[in-house]
Formats: sequence, structure tokens, C-alpha cells
Amino acid sequence: MTKQIGVLTAGGDSPGLNAAIRGVGKTADGCYGMRVIGFRDGFRGLAENRTQPLGSDVLSGILTLGGTILGTSRDKPHKMIIGGKTHDMTDAIIENYQAHHLDVLVCLGGGGTQKNALHLKQQGLNIITLPKTIDNDVAHTDVTFGFDTALGIATESIDRLHSTAHSHHRIIVVEIMGHRAGWLALGAGIAGGADVILLPELPYDVNIVAEAICNRVRRGKKFSIVAVAEGALPKELAAQRAAAQRLQEHATTKKTKKQAQSEWDQLEQQHRNHALQLAIHLEKLTGLEARVTILGYLQRGGTPSAADRLLATRLGSACARLIHQGVYGVMVAAHGDQAEPVLLEEVAGHRRRVPLDHPWIETARQVGTSLGDERIG
Ligand code: F6P
Repeated sequence: MTKQIGVLTAGGDSPGLNAAIRGVGKTADGCYGMRVIGFRDGFRGLAENRTQPLGSDVLSGILTLGGTILGTSRDKPHKMIIGGKTHDMTDAIIENYQAHHLDVLVCLGGGGTQKNALHLKQQGLNIITLPKTIDNDVAHTDVTFGFDTALGIATESIDRLHSTAHSHHRIIVVEIMGHRAGWLALGAGIAGGADVILLPELPYDVNIVAEAICNRVRRGKKFSIVAVAEGALPKELAAQRAAAQRLQEHATTKKTKKQAQSEWDQLEQQHRNHALQLAIHLEKLTGLEARVTILGYLQRGGTPSAADRLLATRLGSACARLIHQGVYGVMVAAHGDQAEPVLLEEVAGHRRRVPLDHPWIETARQVGTSLGDERIG
């Protein structure tokens, strides 16, 4: 019997999504004669039954396109805001899955999508996922598609910031995405030769950062590039956040839960504009002029790199192969040159952060980059 596949993209968009949709669709149709249908705007489109055909005419010419031709959203099946109220749309999703006689739903997304996919698996749907995100923080895959492109953009940006920082003898604080993981900041910081790299995994001491910059000035380098991950925290804030997290974990009554949430929200609020606060602080401590550049969504936009096209295509194609074999309830992970299924239960809820003994961290230290945690030079 001809298999019927549904495809959706969820979470933040990422370069390589269209390459992956094409990889799934072309292999499913061309090699196995399956029918493929798309759902618009992530889980919301599936709940609202908004579809898009994914025939060969649609799949042709999308390999190099950024974004996602299906549209995306951060909506969760069980917590969807409709008319200002939160609704559990799981039943509507199951109904639409059945109405389209789907054999499987393919969900392309990052950490949040893996959790939502597991939720649907637990409701009895056949689900298979692909790991997408510029943050590279999905567990049990070597890498996610989108990361390589964003890494290239962030690295080129640091390259460009060097000449202006150098000309004006300034500190430039460049904020790099990555949510609560430091892969992008660390990778681009090393590749772009940042003088300081600040990561969420390694709370920093602003005095140590200032000292590293002043040491450079003493060596005749009157400019510095500070690559700061958007999730990086000064050590004081990191300690407060850890305490707030403990409070949340131990809150049992409605009142204590509310208190813990409000404490957490306050800390989140405090962390907004942290790149700017860091620059102001460094100006005071070093006497140098500082500027801020937030790379933001530039890192997610535009044409995917060759490496991301290749990764997305081979994972997409492997996904169709696994569907043909009847393998469901898994994420298709990149393990070296292989694409292998990993159970969704092992992936969902497990963010892959930079381990403190990772070789990139050692490399950064060995070339004299300050990570803001220990005094050097
Ligand atoms: O997950 C990708 C990402 O770009 C993160 O790096 C960033 O923290 C987040 O998405 C931004 O989310 P949004 O698109 O919802 O503003």
C-alpha cells in the first residue's frame, strides 16, 4: 500500500529546512512511491488542518532557499493560544492525522519540537523527527542542520568587526545566538579569533574579562573583540539563577510556584540587554570605548551553506528510508557519515550544551583566548 507522509517544520526557522523537506520528499516519492503532504506553520497548521501539497513541482528549486516553504511557529500541540486562551489541541491534531490517512508525521525541528513530537508519539501517532537548529543543542546527534551556516555568518561578522575595532581602538562586544548553549559563540569565536569568548556553560567574571583586555593593551593591542553568547551569564547572575531554579523545583503550593516564577522572570528581565550592560561595565573597568553588535536573526536567514545542504539532504533521505522500513518514534541523528535512528525518549528534554572538557574549550584557552573564568597572561 502507498504510504502517506505528513511533513511540518516547527520552532525557529533555520537554513537547511527546505533542503531537508526536499530530501524527504524526493526520496519518499522517487524511491518508494509514497505520497507527501505538508502542513503549514508547524503544529498550528496541523491542528487547523492547513495543508500544502509537496509534489515534485514544489520540491524542485528549493534546495538553496533559506527559511522554510512550509512556514513555522513555536506552538505546542497541548498548549496553543487561540483567541487569547490556551487550548490543548492534541485531539484536533490526532483527528487531522487520521483524516489525511497518514502513516507517519515527519517533524523537522529543534529541542522544543522533539518534546512535542514525543508527546504525539505518546498519544499513539507514528512520528519521526529531524534535528534542526542553528544552536546545535539537540541531544544524541553529532550536529544539527543550520549550525554550519550560522557559524559561517557569525565568523564572517567577527572578521568584519575586527577592522573597525582595530581602527578605532575599541572594544566590540558581539552577541551571538545559541539560546542556552555556547556552540555558536565558541565556534565562531575561535574561527574569527575573538579575544574573549563568553559562554552560558561557563559563568564569567567581568573583572577577569577587563583584565584580559587591559593585558592586550599592555602588549600594544588597543582593541578587543568579545564574543558573547546570548545565554552567557556573569557569575553573580548565574548563582541567582541556580537558586531560582531550585526554588522552582521545590515549589509545591500555588503561592510558592507563583513566587518562584516571578523570581525567575525578574532574573530573565535583568538579563535582557546583557551585551549592552557588559559593554558599559567594560568601558568603566578598562577606560576604553566599547560598542555592541547584536547579530540576531541575520544568523538564521538566507542561503544554507554547502555543509548544511548536504547534512539536511542526507538526513531527509535517510528519514524516507526509515519510513519505508517502518521505523517510527525516532529522530534521525547524524553519527559521523551515518544517519541513525535514536528513540525520541532519549532525545526529548535533553539539551546538548558544550561540555567543559570539550576540545574546542581547550583549543580556545591554548591560543590565549580568555573565557572570562580564569586569569591569563
Ligand atoms: O533556536 C534558534 C534561536 O535562533 C535561538 O538561537 C534564539 O535564542 C531563539 O531561536 C530566538 O527565538 P525567536 O525566533 O522566537 O525570537
